Amino acid sequence: MPHVPAPTRFADETDRKSGRRISRMFDRIAPTYDMLNHLLSANTDVRWRKQAAAMLALDGTERLLDLCCGTGDLSVAMKDGGAGEVVGTDFAVEMVRLARKKAGDRIEFGVADTTDLPFEDASFDVATVGFGVRNLEDLDGGFREACRVLRPGGRFLVLEFSRPPNAVFRAVYHTYFMIVLPMIGNLVSGGGGDNAYTYLPRSVMAFPGPHALGERLKQAGFSSVDITPLTGGIACIHIATK
Ligand SMILES: C[S@@+](CC[C@H](N)C(=O)[O-])C[C@H]1O[C@@H](n2cnc3c(N)ncnc32)[C@H](O)[C@@H]1O
Repeated sequence: MPHVPAPTRFADETDRKSGRRISRMFDRIAPTYDMLNHLLSANTDVRWRKQAAAMLALDGTERLLDLCCGTGDLSVAMKDGGAGEVVGTDFAVEMVRLARKKAGDRIEFGVADTTDLPFEDASFDVATVGFGVRNLEDLDGGFREACRVLRPGGRFLVLEFSRPPNAVFRAVYHTYFMIVLPMIGNLVSGGGGDNAYTYLPRSVMAFPGPHALGERLKQAGFSSVDITPLTGGIACIHIATK
């Protein structure tokens, strides 16, 4: 089994100001995170996670690492989708606690920074990340770490929000995403002290588009990247091969 650090790993760190702000925000919204995901997306997030697992055609032999795992929904989808051993990591202790509660002993969860992973080189067959890379302070560093811990030929699946290419659909969707979603999200969750659901659409707007993201994956060491838009381009799946 890979070594997974104890859940207090970052408790005393003082040199990760932005990372600490993000992890605290997720710790604060953790109790309502799952419920709001399903409510605000009308359960579309569940479908996207299942589709992500199906696209990997897992056969039970893989050792899979789910990065920025949060409350573990993508980790569970991967296990249910046929992955062998699944390990999930996130730097928000409260999110990891809920993931452990959800998955019992089917999945091993630990606290770790995606840009500084506590695993040996080439120790996983597959890595995944759902709605996580957009929050990375050092996106390229996170991609390099994912590439480092994968064996040659290993695959890295990135499920992330995107911006719909169709102008009319984008306008309708943006009204919901920029106005309605933050109102409901901040109200129900308390905003995580940082208005997490205002931060969500802002972070999506500031994030690279699918092709630029594909190039960043290649620059981090992956050789090929397949891109699949979901639900009119609201989200996107990248599968990069090392
Ligand atoms: C929007 S949540 C996604 C959670 C989960 N993957 C899902 O599909 O619901 C983003 C997660 O990324 C985590 N995160 C952000 N930056 C991180 C980093 N540098 N290292 C580890 N986790 C990070 C946050 O703590 C948060 O739990």
